[in-house]
Amino acid sequence: MKNLVKVAIVASTVMVAATASAEAAKSLKHAKKATHNREAVFSLLGSNMGPLGAMAKGKMPLDAKVVEKHATRINQLSLMIADYTRTDTSGFKVKTEALDKIWKQPKAFAKRIDDLTKASAKLQKVAMSGDTASIKKAIGGVGKTCGGCHDDFKAD
Ligand code: HEC
Repeated sequence: MKNLVKVAIVASTVMVAATASAEAAKSLKHAKKATHNREAVFSLLGSNMGPLGAMAKGKMPLDAKVVEKHATRINQLSLMIADYTRTDTSGFKVKTEALDKIWKQPKAFAKRIDDLTKASAKLQKVAMSGDTASIKKAIGGVGKTCGGCHDDFKAD
C-alpha cells in the first residue's frame, strides 16, 4: 500500500513537470529577470527575421545558405518560447509588451508557438531548394506566424 502511494505521487510529479504550466513570479526581482530573458528570446527572433524580410522584399540579395541559417535559428528559438514565457509576470509592475492573456489562454498561446515552429521548419526545408519564389513564400509564412501571435498576445 505504502509503495502504491509512492508510485502515485511520483507519477503525478512527472506529469506536472511535463506540462508547460505557468508559474507566478515570486518577487519583483524575479519578474524583472523573467521579463528580461523573455524579451531576449523575442529580440533574437527579430534579429534573425530582419535579413529574411529584406531578402523577401528584394532589398538584399537572396542567399539560400543565409536563409537556411536564420530559419534554423528561428526554429531553435521557437522551441525556447514556452520555457521563457512560463513565468507569469502579470502580478508585478514590469515594463513589458506581453499581455496577461499569455498566462490566461495557454493553449492558444502554445498553438501560436507551434505555428512558428512549423513555418520555420518549412523554410529550413525550402531554403535549399534554390527556388526563389518558394523561398520568398516560406519567409512570408514565417512572418505571418510572428504577426499572428503579436495580434493576440503582444501590446502594440
Ligand atoms: C507565441 C507568440 C509569439 C510569436 C510566435 C512571436 N512573438 Fe514576438 N513577441 C511576443 C510577445 C508576447 C512579445 C512581448 C515580450 C515582452 O515585452 O515581454 C514579443 C516581442 C517581440 C519583439 C520585441 C522584443 C523586445 O526587445 O522587447 C520582437 C522584435 C519580436 N517579438 C519579433 C518577433 C518575430 C520576428 C517573430 C517571428 C519570427 C516573433 N516575434 C514571433 C510574442 C510572439
